[in-house]
Amino acid sequence: MKHDTITPYNSQQEKKEQVAQMFDNIANRYDLLNSILSLGIHKGWRKKCVNILKTKQPKFILDVATGTGDFAVECAKLNPEKITGIDISAGMMNFGKEKVKKLNLDHLISFELGNAETVNFPDSSFDAIVVGFGVRNFQNLEKGLSNLYRMLKPNGQLLVLEFSYPTNVFIKAGYNFYFSYIIPLVGKLFSKDTRAYAYLTKSVKAFPNNEHFVAVMNNCGYKQTSYKTLSFGIAAIYAGSK
Ligand SMILES: C[S@@+](CC[C@H](N)C(=O)[O-])C[C@H]1O[C@@H](n2cnc3c(N)ncnc32)[C@H](O)[C@@H]1O
Repeated sequence: MKHDTITPYNSQQEKKEQVAQMFDNIANRYDLLNSILSLGIHKGWRKKCVNILKTKQPKFILDVATGTGDFAVECAKLNPEKITGIDISAGMMNFGKEKVKKLNLDHLISFELGNAETVNFPDSSFDAIVVGFGVRNFQNLEKGLSNLYRMLKPNGQLLVLEFSYPTNVFIKAGYNFYFSYIIPLVGKLFSKDTRAYAYLTKSVKAFPNNEHFVAVMNNCGYKQTSYKTLSFGIAAIYAGSK
């Protein structure tokens, strides 16, 4: 099944609307479930991305699909001038806004409602753009990545963090079991939206990973593209520049 036809609710609504509704529904449990389901590993993955950006010293950073703002908060360690988080789910960003205020980072990080595919910051606005676990949810992946390319400054850096799938047979077996049974079960127990966690499993399986995702980046114009797998291939960081 093609990845962009996978939707949370299989309803008549466009994927974008279903995804926004799903994240609004799970927003109050998102941070908790993220930590339970990934056993906290996801924090280290975002740190790795931010370490890659250290040498570039980006001043203006866009965090696409910012959700509850964890990636934006991690990017604050780079001492940039401004971080902008955009997302299609106001519910997720409300939790992000609270978090950022508590951390006294509200002078640095701001949130705006915006879709990666259509948001219209001027061309060449950002030194770095990061997307954490967001691209898989785009309605049109190429359109989203091309719009991000447009908003990057020349030599600007895109970093995408996304689930991937391992190649080692033993790890793969454990991974499949975890994604097929444990995640939907925990989702059912802790979240009022059971379909959200079933969608996570389906969307990860159908999404182009590793060299397949790099090929999509290349098609969208990115240069010096590469990927690095994390934690036995469970996730990957994709890099590309303009
Ligand atoms: C799994 S959460 C990731 C949140 C955060 N980046 C993190 O690392 O925890 C995915 C987020 O992507 C957002 N999203 C999905 N499609 C989007 C789009 N086309 N444009 C902007 N945000 C989008 C969802 O609303 C959701 O908040």
